[in-house]
Amino acid sequence: MEIKINPKYPSVTDLRKRAQVKMPKFAFEYLDGGCNEDINLDKNRTDLQKIELMPQYLSKFDKSDLRTELFGHTYNAPFGIAPVGLQGLMWPNSPEILAKAAFNHNVPFILSTVTTSSIERVAELTEGKSWFQLYHPAEEKVKRDLLDRAANAGTDVLVILADVPTFGYRPRDVRNGLAMPPSMSLKNIIEVLKKPDWAIQTLIHGQPAFKTLEPYMPKGLNLKKLGEFMDVTFSGRLNEDRIASIRDQWKGKLVIKGVVNEMDAQKAINLGVDGLIVSNHGGRQLDAGQSSIVPMTHLAKKYKNDIKIMVDSGLRGGPDIARAMANGAEFTFMGRSFMYGVGALGKDGGDHTISLMKREFQQVMEQLCCEKVQNLPQHLIK
Ligand SMILES: Cc1cc2nc3c(=O)[nH]c(=O)nc-3n(C[C@H](O)[C@H](O)[C@H](O)COP(=O)(O)O)c2cc1C
Repeated sequence: MEIKINPKYPSVTDLRKRAQVKMPKFAFEYLDGGCNEDINLDKNRTDLQKIELMPQYLSKFDKSDLRTELFGHTYNAPFGIAPVGLQGLMWPNSPEILAKAAFNHNVPFILSTVTTSSIERVAELTEGKSWFQLYHPAEEKVKRDLLDRAANAGTDVLVILADVPTFGYRPRDVRNGLAMPPSMSLKNIIEVLKKPDWAIQTLIHGQPAFKTLEPYMPKGLNLKKLGEFMDVTFSGRLNEDRIASIRDQWKGKLVIKGVVNEMDAQKAINLGVDGLIVSNHGGRQLDAGQSSIVPMTHLAKKYKNDIKIMVDSGLRGGPDIARAMANGAEFTFMGRSFMYGVGALGKDGGDHTISLMKREFQQVMEQLCCEKVQNLPQHLIK
């Protein structure tokens, strides 16, 4: 796929700035913020930035190849789009924009259980090539049905989320009335009126709704009841029994997202899980926690022969993808970067941001004189 970049937005920083102008304040702050005092959010960035890479200018070098094999599929680059809930609130139709762009560029897109497009719709757009992230539902029959639907849609990889045993405490969302139950205050309505593009796109695409979950939701819920429904339905914490039961039912590849220590990694391996996305949810859950690159580095060293180790949280461009891969990750994901892209550029945002990541990552590979993605660890300054 051709690399097309709008020259006005040559970095994720530019996209973020533009997204802030285009999105209503409550939606931008929901996307952008961390939790509590944003310590973990910042730590993700600062720990990544400490990683340094060494070029090898005089080595024999032909050209860099970004292609990366994962779970039997060769992707065009070692990054994908992380699952993000409520995407249609941030930019109307954004899950479909991103899923289609990811499919066209041959990189993975992970659909969140609680986003605003359905498993079936995204499968249609991606010929069943996308991944599905499951929030473990409290009710067994809802879980079974979601897994059946994902399998019937041809989903490649199932990702189960470990790191939301409780909702994160996010002061911005509390101030904006976006906590559960959500509320549409006068302040938020005024915000919407100030963002005409967002408002028009919302009129075209309709109010954002939890499309995958609609079959399980009682009809005509008001916002308060919706909050209660979400609370009850997703109070299902992950544990070993639940993973074992999913492992029995799910015949495809199984990944756990949010594991950050050896004890849990070892349990996942014992249960027959195929991969881990080491993640702290982009710094949105435990402000006193570690950055995700630090435990990822440790887990990759220890378990890379037993399980695929991937990472997300804090990556914002090509140099970060290279830093993570040099530290042992086999694949990387980003959440906010792609949503900033869609917030800034609407329907062109997915294509633009993927192209941008590819171009930046390609430049780093060529600068290092690194031909293959698997060789990046040879460029790590220890
Ligand atoms: C607004 C927002 C909503 C998110 N919703 C989900 C979700 O529904 N499911 C999930 O597994 N992770 C969710 N995440 C976490 C992302 O999948 C990913 O771990 C995180 O965004 C990575 O950090 P980054 O944004 O710094 O790249 C969300 C993240 C953000 C920013």
